[in-house]
Amino acid sequence: MNGTYLTMRPGPLRGTMTVPGDKSISHRALILGAKSPSPIEVRNLNPGRDVRATALALQAVGASVEFDASAARVSGGALRDPQHVIDCMNSGSTARMMLGVCAGANLRAHFDGDASLRRRPMEPVAAHLRAFGARIETTNGTLPARLDGRTASQTRRFILVSPSAQIKTALLLAGVFSETPLTMLGDKGSRDHTERLLRFFGSDISFDRSTVELRSMPSHFSDVEVPGDFSAAAFFIVAAAVSPGSAITIANVGVNPSRTGLLDALAQMGARIDLQNRRERCGEPVADIHVESADLRGIAVGADLALRAIDEILVLAVAAAFARGQTRITGVQELRNKESDRLAAILRLMRAAGVTVEPLPNGMAIHGGEPRCEDALLETQGDHRTAMAAAALAAGAGALRIDDESSIDVSFPDFLPTLRKAQQ
Ligand code: S3P
Repeated sequence: MNGTYLTMRPGPLRGTMTVPGDKSISHRALILGAKSPSPIEVRNLNPGRDVRATALALQAVGASVEFDASAARVSGGALRDPQHVIDCMNSGSTARMMLGVCAGANLRAHFDGDASLRRRPMEPVAAHLRAFGARIETTNGTLPARLDGRTASQTRRFILVSPSAQIKTALLLAGVFSETPLTMLGDKGSRDHTERLLRFFGSDISFDRSTVELRSMPSHFSDVEVPGDFSAAAFFIVAAAVSPGSAITIANVGVNPSRTGLLDALAQMGARIDLQNRRERCGEPVADIHVESADLRGIAVGADLALRAIDEILVLAVAAAFARGQTRITGVQELRNKESDRLAAILRLMRAAGVTVEPLPNGMAIHGGEPRCEDALLETQGDHRTAMAAAALAAGAGALRIDDESSIDVSFPDFLPTLRKAQQ
C-alpha cells in the first residue's frame, strides 16, 4: 500500500451512462481482423491496457494494426516470428489467445507478462494447443512460455477439459490461423463471442452449449461495432440495485446470454432491472439496461449460472451482502486463478462491510442484511474488478477506502468519472 487511499462514496446513482466497448469482443475482433486481406475498422474498441496488449502483440507478429483509445484499423497477411518477447502485461486473454494464433500460424514466439499474469495457469491452454500439434514449454505451468511452431498433428477433434472460453478460443484461433476445420466437445456454455464473430465474418460454424464445429474459415470481413461491456456495466447495475433512490440507464450494452448470469441471479434476488430497446449488432445481442434500487433476498447460485457470470462473482457477492438471508455461491473455484485470488477478495470485501461469510467446498455462503463499511480500508491487490466492486459496495453501505485505483485502467479507464457523475 502506498499511503494514499481513494474513498469510494455512498449515495444513489442516477441518469444515463455508457460503458466502454466489450473487452472480450475487442480482443477477438482485433485478432480475427488480422486474417482480413483488407483493413477493417473496429469501433468502440475497449480502451483499457489489456486490449492494448493484444494490439501490440498482433503488431509484433506482423499484422497491420493502427489504433487509438476507441477504434482500430486492422488487417493481416502472412504473419512472421516476433523479434521480441510478446509482453501480455496483465492480460490472460492476450496470452492464451495469442498462443493460439501463433500455434496456428506456425510461429516461434516467447510470451511473458506482469507479476500477476506470471502467477496464472498457462498449462491448460498449452496442453490443448499441444494436442493441436503446437510445441510449447511453460515455466512450471506459467509464463514465461516458449512456442516453437507446430508439428503436422492430425487431431481435429478436441475435448475441452475445463469450461474456459479462453482455451476454446485459443483452439479456434489455431484452427483459423492454420485454416484447419475442427470440432470441440465438452464446453459447458462458456462465452461464445469467438463463434459469433466467426459466423459474422462468413465462417460456416455451429455451436451450442457443449459442441463447437468450425467447418470453414472466415471469408467476408467487415467493420465491427463493439457493444458496451456487460462486465463493466455490472458494477453500476449492482451499485444502483443496492443504493436506495437509484435509477439509471446504461445504454448500448452487450447482453449475450453466455455473459448475463448476473442479471438472472439479480432477478431471482428481486432486483428491478429492465432490458430496453433490444437489438442485434455484429451478431451480438445489445440492449439498454434500466436499473432501480430494490430490496434483495438471498438465493443459491450454482456452477452453470456462475460460468455465465464468471467475471461478475465479486460484484454478485456485493449484492448478496445486501440481500436478506443467505446467498450460496458454488462452482467458483476458478476464481482463485483470475487477476488476483477473487475468492480471497470476496472475503476482504465482506469483512470490510461487517458481513459474515462461510466457506463452502468450491464457494461460499454470504449472510447478508445490513452491510456497513464505516470507512474501512480494502486491499485490491492490483485487481481492477475488486476496485470497481468496492465502489458498488460503498454506494449502498457507506464510505470505503481502497489502497490503489490504478488497476482500473486495465478495462475501464473512465470508471471513476462516470461513477462520480452518476452520484452527483
Ligand atoms: C474471457 C474468459 C474468461 C474470463 C476472462 C475473459 C474471454 O476466462 O474470466 O475475463 O474473453 O474469453 P476463462 O476462459 O479462463 O474462464
